[in-house]
Amino acid sequence: MLFARIAGVGSYLPGKPVSNNELAQRGVDTSDDWISTRTGIKTRYLAEAGVTSSELAFEASRLAISDAGIRAEDIDLIIVATSTPDYIFPSTACLLQEKLGNQGAMAFDVQAVCSGFVYAVTIAEKFIRSGSHKKALVVGAEVFSRILDWNDRATCVLFGDGAGAVVLEASDKPGVLATATHADGSYNHILSVPGCVSRGQVVGDPFLRMDGQAVFKFAVRALTDVAKECCAVAGIGSESIDWLVPHQANIRIIESTAKKLGLPMEKVVVTVDQHGNTSAASVPLALDAAIRDGRVKRGQRVVLEGVGGGFTWGAVLLEY
Ligand code: UT7
Repeated sequence: MLFARIAGVGSYLPGKPVSNNELAQRGVDTSDDWISTRTGIKTRYLAEAGVTSSELAFEASRLAISDAGIRAEDIDLIIVATSTPDYIFPSTACLLQEKLGNQGAMAFDVQAVCSGFVYAVTIAEKFIRSGSHKKALVVGAEVFSRILDWNDRATCVLFGDGAGAVVLEASDKPGVLATATHADGSYNHILSVPGCVSRGQVVGDPFLRMDGQAVFKFAVRALTDVAKECCAVAGIGSESIDWLVPHQANIRIIESTAKKLGLPMEKVVVTVDQHGNTSAASVPLALDAAIRDGRVKRGQRVVLEGVGGGFTWGAVLLEY
């Protein structure tokens, strides 16, 4: 049987960590106590002006490609999950492709906000399983700092910039075992950047707007249900997985989800404290951290899961 197996991982965070206190010193009406207690976030990374998603994606991809022991030219599929693309077009994936020196791979972006990486892995897996592609680079990369309203303390303290990448390779050894992905567009209004560029002007609102409590409730329900659904596809119970790598948005969302899944927090990878919510980059950032520090080992069962604007949500069960 043909599987899509993780051959390499990498991640990148730009610049130095910015603490909660530093945000308060920069004029945001907030405190370390409020942010830590409500979200678990301690620091985030904010890219310098002019640094783009494709640049962050490049740094993470370089590491993932090297970890996989392949060359950039070996890749035949590049998918970048991002809601903060460099341009309207061409895609961030094509800009990344040029930076990597790859020619000829199919390259495109996926727009599923914080579920983007899970969506992208799901898509890449289908290409690999079909036999049409052999080596996929799947990246989540974001510069969310560009779409934050720094006068809106209820949102600007939550997000940060970063990128994470995996190389998925066709293999006869187990890799991705099951996937489950969904969307419900009727929830578009609870988390959005409701603006666009038209005739040379911004039309609507170019900043992230969120109904925090509605998102919180939706996220816990969706993350719980989709992890169970994905495990059921593979015929296992969610309590029997080795690691849960959830979207890193808020420690309270992560803890509630773990509790509902019957998983102790020792089996849950948490990095939200270090980099805040990096949208599509959050799951690969957390996965890379847990592989690097030796927690996630070859042969273990891992569930990656995301939820975000759209609303979108999804999970991938894999054997690492
Ligand atoms: O990828 C998904 C992305 N979204 C999320 O993960 C967000 C999910 N939602 C949440 O995590 C929570 O709803 C928040 C952390 C955003 C907010 O927590 P909350 O417990 O729902 O707080 P709240 O919005 O009800 O606000 C409580 C108070 C308000 O003050 P008053 O009206 O009670 O006086 C806010 O003005 O907290 C105030 N507040 C703040 N205070 C200090 C809101 N933001 C801040 C802040 N610093 N940054």
